[in-house]
Amino acid sequence: MKAKSGYASNPAEHAGNTIEALRNAAMDCRACPLWERATQTVFGEGPSGAPVMLVGEQPGDQEDIAGRPFVGPAGHLLTRALAAAGIPRERVYITNAVKHFKFELRGKRRMHKKPVDAEIAACHDWLKREIELVAPRLIVAMGATAVRSVLGRAAPIMGSRGKLTEYASGIALLITVHPSFLLRVPEQDKDDEYDRFLDDIKLAKSFVR
Ligand code: URA
Repeated sequence: MKAKSGYASNPAEHAGNTIEALRNAAMDCRACPLWERATQTVFGEGPSGAPVMLVGEQPGDQEDIAGRPFVGPAGHLLTRALAAAGIPRERVYITNAVKHFKFELRGKRRMHKKPVDAEIAACHDWLKREIELVAPRLIVAMGATAVRSVLGRAAPIMGSRGKLTEYASGIALLITVHPSFLLRVPEQDKDDEYDRFLDDIKLAKSFVR
């Protein structure tokens, strides 16, 4: 994503050549104001060299506290779909386009707030370096924010989902919905939407040996 964030530059480019070094550097990221209210940076997790990288939007309330991506309700759905597709979660690298939790307070509850383009752009270099260092053979972009960061532009999720395309030489791209979408659809559509998501995730299986 080449878009300018308007914030100070992101330090990812000079943050070392291993995922661990990158993760450590990201802990102090001040590239946009989201760090101020978040508990911590929630960096990606999984083996470097993982064949598949899953990209979400941003940590939620539980991820912000745990310091790990996709451990809340959306994470449970994702983990369930991975297992149903025969993909062990620990074999893939799971990360987010934005590494700090953005929220608004409603009473005592911290309600998720969608990151704006400038925040996605400010965080983009972390994702770019994660892709370089993990070097996956498939990137799964889940939802609009992930697509925006991975492609550097918006793309219609429903029109693009479930098809393997090329991200870069030797790296395929799969677009699908964000698992939290499955939590929001009306009750009567939940099973069908989960099945569609599972069909998409199953396409990743052939990349995991
Ligand atoms: N939603 C995301 O996009 N990422 C998480 O880590 C959790 C929920």
